[in-house]
Amino acid sequence: MLKIKIIKDGPLCFDGTFTYRDDGEVSSKFDGASLTLCRCGNTSRTPFCDQSHNSFSFIADDHLNVEYKVSNQNAVSLDDSIFVKAIKGGPLYIAGPVSIVDEGGASWEGNRVKLCRCGYSQIKPFCDGAHKNMVPVGENP
Ligand code: FES
Repeated sequence: MLKIKIIKDGPLCFDGTFTYRDDGEVSSKFDGASLTLCRCGNTSRTPFCDQSHNSFSFIADDHLNVEYKVSNQNAVSLDDSIFVKAIKGGPLYIAGPVSIVDEGGASWEGNRVKLCRCGYSQIKPFCDGAHKNMVPVGENP
């Protein structure tokens, strides 16, 4: 299972074994790795956090208690592996068993999720589609 810890008003910390595919369709395998991924939309090292969230007032009012489901849109064939894909101009799409916890102890578990990385979702850490009306990920001022 991929474990994701939410840092309050900061990045997402991924811990597990998974395949990551960037929005240029380049895949990398992370084996038991811990990665800190941006969700404010301002990093210059996409997908990784570069502490840019500290340079402005990134406030993430997280909503792990909402009922959140994604359709099979962007579905990938699954074996036992966990697949993380950066959707161009949009969220991180994750297929495979994942658990998310915040610093307050709230949690969410599931097998498919889209996590906001533009910083504009009203139901962070989940994507609510707000990126469609915003500056593309990685190009925020
Ligand atoms: S990536 Fe932020 S709302 Fe979709």
